[in-house]
Amino acid sequence: MEVIIQKDARSAAVLVAKLIVKELTAKPALVLGLATGRTMESVYGELIRLYEDEGLDFSLCRTFNLDEYVGLAPDDPHSYRHFMNVHLFDHINIDKRNTHVPNGLAGNLDRECADYERAIAECGGIDLQLLGIGTDGHIGFNEPLSALRSRTREKALTPATIIQNSKYFDSPDQMPKRGITMGVGTILESRSCILLATGADKASIVAKAVEGPITAMVSASALQLHPHCRIVVDEAAASRLQGTDYYRWIFQNEPEWAEFR
Ligand code: PGA
Repeated sequence: MEVIIQKDARSAAVLVAKLIVKELTAKPALVLGLATGRTMESVYGELIRLYEDEGLDFSLCRTFNLDEYVGLAPDDPHSYRHFMNVHLFDHINIDKRNTHVPNGLAGNLDRECADYERAIAECGGIDLQLLGIGTDGHIGFNEPLSALRSRTREKALTPATIIQNSKYFDSPDQMPKRGITMGVGTILESRSCILLATGADKASIVAKAVEGPITAMVSASALQLHPHCRIVVDEAAASRLQGTDYYRWIFQNEPEWAEFR
């Protein structure tokens, strides 16, 4: 695991976009795992800018989103499929048939989850998985006590997640109480991953996930088991970390980061 600290949320998002561009340029048919949430909006904004200004090409890219609400139709303005269309897919040259978000209206959710895992495998697995983190430590909708080897499945949301996300709904009652999510085990199988966290409200959970014990109580702590995981944070989200001198030294001195400094 490497922790990269950037001065503010904007710089952190731009760095994540650059890391994606590097992989997409090296492999145009990249299998990209995507995340939703406020934090990702600026990453997607930067990718759109790079498509418009520099011709970044998504035509062969395949994507798999982490999660979706159970019970919301793809065209529901609160669905994650809608979020992805509005914040990214509608603005770049991606073939929508190559974009995958679990179907929250599937009649048989178990089958939907198994099919989602199969679709990822048929694409050869996820090359690069983007992740946010919830204030309860979730990645995707892997809420506390999600099994560290879990696969894509239906999951009950925690009160913390319901509070965090209900602000996007007209009334908290409209907020779905269940989601479909890739499992922690699914995420750990990605060839590389990047977790982006910004803002002071993420500082405490980032410290637990990065420097605390691996525990199913903090799903993101399982990323300590991932062979190629980068945690990108701004100063505010890094403020509770202990090892910041070392993390900054790595970014300033390791050759792999030279092109991003
Ligand atoms: P946020 O969500 O970017 O809106 O904070 C992140 C998450 O819950 O995974």
